[in-house]
Amino acid sequence: MLAAPGTNRVTYFLALETSCDETAAAVFTDELQVLSSVVASQTDLHARFGGVVPEIASRAHLRSLLPVVDDALARAHIGLKDIGCVAVHNTPGLVGALLVGVSAAKALAFGLGVPLIAVNHVASHIFACRLAAGRDIFPCVGLVVSGGHTALFRCDTALSMELLGGTRDDAAGEAFDKVAAILGLGFPGGPAVEREAAAGNPKAHDFPRSFIHDGRLEFSFSGLKTAVMYACHGQDVKRATPPGPGQKRADLAASFQSAVVDVLAMKCKQALRKTGLARLAVGGGVSANKPLRAALEAMCKKEGADLFIPPLSLCTDNAAMAALAVEKWKQGAFAPDDLDAEPNWL
Ligand code: KG4
Ligand code: ZN
Repeated sequence: MLAAPGTNRVTYFLALETSCDETAAAVFTDELQVLSSVVASQTDLHARFGGVVPEIASRAHLRSLLPVVDDALARAHIGLKDIGCVAVHNTPGLVGALLVGVSAAKALAFGLGVPLIAVNHVASHIFACRLAAGRDIFPCVGLVVSGGHTALFRCDTALSMELLGGTRDDAAGEAFDKVAAILGLGFPGGPAVEREAAAGNPKAHDFPRSFIHDGRLEFSFSGLKTAVMYACHGQDVKRATPPGPGQKRADLAASFQSAVVDVLAMKCKQALRKTGLARLAVGGGVSANKPLRAALEAMCKKEGADLFIPPLSLCTDNAAMAALAVEKWKQGAFAPDDLDAEPNWL
């Protein structure tokens, strides 16, 4: 039997995430207790292409989704019949990949006779901070830094996000992935660049920090990526081969990373000052980066702001962060039967 909002019975949610290259399912309660969170990564399938191949991602989601759901239910020690609500990230992302999750969620909700809730993947990245904190974090400035997005939001509640500014070209994670390809560090690029940078000198190259002294809350990482390419290969970029291990490569990685970190920390500081808010919540894969976490901590301390960054497992794509669905459930904001995947948002 379905428990309605406001009754004493616990409602169990099953959430699905298939927006990019992680197939994920999670079980949580209407009190935001996460009972299980399972993520099947497709990294190995995409590595030899140096990036996510949409068609491969969709097919891998098709293969993995039901086993991942079974695993999430088993780890939560409940069965499908106990599920009172199904949630799914339906936007933004790769359209074919999103469709797998949306179709499965619709079928499950219809088959079980329970409500379906559509959740925005970017909003969920911010909500991951709320989950990890175990207490209210709103109102706050939200920074989402992932492979697909780099944007600052004013978040008055978990469900109201006003865009303060985003990237004009590449997302920060995309820049990490492209620079990793230039340096021959493999895929996914973020963790590889971070590892390489640990042995490098962040001041070896003075790479551009776009808009850093400009009040606009916008980002641009494409010029930075090009600057790394020229610093690495000189003018002859067409015949260039990756530099191979050594100090040169480590210095390029460290100098690149330091430019990204400086810009992200400065823009967060400007957003806190502009909004007058004293809380910063950070989500998305790039927030797993340790130098970024350290820089944001130092900045927030100086500004007298509280910083919320989830543990690594909640930074990268997962379905537990879709617990944002509980907020919508409380409002009765259910998805229509003809819910569709929406690849674009913003
Ligand atoms: O949020 P996410 O898992 O997927 C998207 O929604 O895009 O973010 C993936 C991105 C990738 O670009 C990856 O290279 C980057 O996050 N990333 C990192 C780190 N770990 C993952 N970037 C920098 N440092 C890291 N440690
Ligand atoms: Zn994401």
